[in-house]
Amino acid sequence: MTDLSLFAISHIFALIFCLVSIITLAETDIKLPEIQIQNVLSESAAPVKVQITGEPVILLKCYNDLYKWNVTRNEIIYNTAIFSHYTANWQAFDPSSDAGHAISFWWITTSGIFHSF
Ligand SMILES: *[C@@H]1O[C@H](CO)[C@@H](O)[C@H](O)[C@H]1NC(C)=O
Repeated sequence: MTDLSLFAISHIFALIFCLVSIITLAETDIKLPEIQIQNVLSESAAPVKVQITGEPVILLKCYNDLYKWNVTRNEIIYNTAIFSHYTANWQAFDPSSDAGHAISFWWITTSGIFHSF
């Protein structure tokens, strides 16, 4: 093997390493939002118990109380809210619709749960 071909081979390896690094960077560069869940029930309403799957139960005691949580995995994340005599389950994060947004807001109101970015 000549010195030249050794030189070429080492450059090919360096190039492959660069490409793999770029691909890895691109994959980890997906922007994952901060989820915000707010108690917007009437002021006299009971507290809201919120639980994102795998996370501790959070109590939103008062009107306007806000829970913030950063999505860390690019996969569907479920969430449960319990208030007065209701239990609501929904997908707090769905990569197909929510990835790339900075903040994903959820408002728990007396007439339903509303979503906005
Ligand atoms: C989520 O991440 C952003 C950006 O890093 C940070 O500013 C924010 O405080 C984080 N939120 C929580 C609830 O940790």
